[in-house]
Amino acid sequence: MTVKKDHYLVVSAGTIQGVFPQVPAEFAGLEMLDYTGHLVIPGLTDLHIHGPQYVFRGLSMDRELLDWLNFRTFPEEAKYRDPEYARRAYRLFAQDLRQGGTVNAVVFGTIHKEGTRILMEELEAAGLRAYVGKVNMDRNSPDDYREETEDSAADTRAWIQETAGAFSQVKPILTPRFLPTCSDRLMELLGQLQREFALPVQSHLSENQGEIAWVRELCPQADFYGDGYQRFGLFGGDVPTIMAHCVYSGEEELLRMKERGVYIAHCPQSNTNIASGIAPVRRFLDMGIRVGLGSDVAGGHSASIFRTMAEAVQVSKLRWRLVDQTLRPLTAAEAFYLGTEGGGSFFGRSGSFQKGYAADILVLDESRMPYMEELTVAERLERYLYLCGEKDILHKFVGGRMLF
Ligand code: GUN
Ligand code: FE
Repeated sequence: MTVKKDHYLVVSAGTIQGVFPQVPAEFAGLEMLDYTGHLVIPGLTDLHIHGPQYVFRGLSMDRELLDWLNFRTFPEEAKYRDPEYARRAYRLFAQDLRQGGTVNAVVFGTIHKEGTRILMEELEAAGLRAYVGKVNMDRNSPDDYREETEDSAADTRAWIQETAGAFSQVKPILTPRFLPTCSDRLMELLGQLQREFALPVQSHLSENQGEIAWVRELCPQADFYGDGYQRFGLFGGDVPTIMAHCVYSGEEELLRMKERGVYIAHCPQSNTNIASGIAPVRRFLDMGIRVGLGSDVAGGHSASIFRTMAEAVQVSKLRWRLVDQTLRPLTAAEAFYLGTEGGGSFFGRSGSFQKGYAADILVLDESRMPYMEELTVAERLERYLYLCGEKDILHKFVGGRMLF
């Protein structure tokens, strides 16, 4: 992390030109915005969040993953078959994300193609950059929230075609929910769609021990959980892929992710709330695996990636103290990297103030967190990660466009 005090961040044509002690002569004609005294940082990326779960965040947090899915999540997501319900709920979600620090989001919808299109419309209207997925599930799901295999693929195809080119900042991503809810035949069809439309992929991986044992029974042919995705061409290589959690990924799975450039979305708040465990992020980083942060609302109760950064540091300390003293805890600067450039790189050049990056910029508001004595800029940023609320942001720019 590089910190500069009292410098000029130069932007033109929606792109960062650099950070300078004086404005270079060639940029002297640009409009000047004066944020003296404020922290100015790159926009944040949430690599894993569920749009339809936003309205029940903070509920049923005393359940573990599979129980939580059946008791709370699937019944709620089933309601998004009603476009009017979807519109209201997704507007709440998108407008709240707009007010927070997230510039880029990778989002799960539901199995409904119309509802998922509404989610895309609301995120586009909110001015955010996003990948959005229509979820696929054809087994181990309730009768009113399950697709027939062929319908699932056909609806996904129709959804891809109907939304192609419809948005400037929102794009589709293939979203098999996770192996327990997707039959081999469905995965095969999704693999075909991936190759036909060259879409990225997102899913869940090695989150919870009960889930992993179940996958072993359901997919006996797979060498390990992640191999079950790769068998259908849905696990990195030429396919940009994000896998959420990876709390229990073994050596082979991690090596495969490293080899194939698969991103891990680390979701510490969710892993805490639904008692999944603590992912060894230091290990991921030491191995050179790509890692970003996910709020995983509503496993996570807060959509704030600032909170997620602080919690990534916190849980890494518990892991270090209680589980494995060879893996040093994360620093605030490392967590900041994960929430900015770490995840932002999935979107191309986002999450840094290096020349050529998208002008995704946050001007932070520390007025609700006064201090008695002068702090360094780095200290102020560290403190902000811990103390900020979801909306302590003064200004937000996406690709050079001011949202507020
Ligand atoms: N695994 C499958 N579906 C989900 C979900 O909605 N949330 C989380 N955290 N894990 C999942
Ligand atoms: Fe999730």
